Amino acid sequence: MKILVAITGASGSLYAQRLLNHLDPQVHEVHVVQSNYAQQVIATELPEGLRLPAGVKAHGLKSMNAPFASGSNPPDVMVVIPCTMGTLGRIAHGYSEDVLLRAADVVLKEKKKLILVPRETPLSLVHVKNFELLLLAGATLIPANPSFYSGAKTAVELADTVVARVLDHMGIPNELAPRWAEERE
Ligand SMILES: Cc1cc2nc3c(=O)[nH]c(=O)nc-3n(C[C@H](O)[C@H](O)[C@H](O)COP(=O)(O)O)c2cc1C
Repeated sequence: MKILVAITGASGSLYAQRLLNHLDPQVHEVHVVQSNYAQQVIATELPEGLRLPAGVKAHGLKSMNAPFASGSNPPDVMVVIPCTMGTLGRIAHGYSEDVLLRAADVVLKEKKKLILVPRETPLSLVHVKNFELLLLAGATLIPANPSFYSGAKTAVELADTVVARVLDHMGIPNELAPRWAEERE
């Protein structure tokens, strides 16, 4: 699979790091693009910064010289994790002024899989209307809401309850978080 992971400036950089840790560049073609504010939030939330696994290809925001900027070469899956309300609104309304937004536009128009992991609280009607637009356009919304029934004890384990659902929707087998009512040996 060709996968694009887009990281924006919402709280929850850990979700992006955990997702990247569980994508194997030997198996998949993995690309990464970050918004300008992503870097600010990463600096606040990840003491060691974002660690890109070997084989992951990083792209600048401003150059359209990336394969996924064109409908002729779209990714199979694009995940925006975590996703700000700003980026979500811009995607919902078709802004394409940088390569992250253009890629999301491409993924929607080419009917590929767009997974957004929004993080904001509380939500305004503007946010909810943008959610509605994106759902109608075919995107999948997986809010960055961890679950607690699996007994997660650390921030990483809590983050993984969200990342596991993202991997599920990408079609990538994983045992990142316990599944409800699962029989364990
Ligand atoms: C530490 C920090 C945490 C933030 N958390 C959120 C958040 O959870 N959700 C959100 O929509 N914006 C959040 N923001 C605000 C966005 O970073 C800001 O709106 C920015 O313009 C978004 O740009 P982007 O969508 O290009 O990343 C946060 C900003 C900072 C500095």
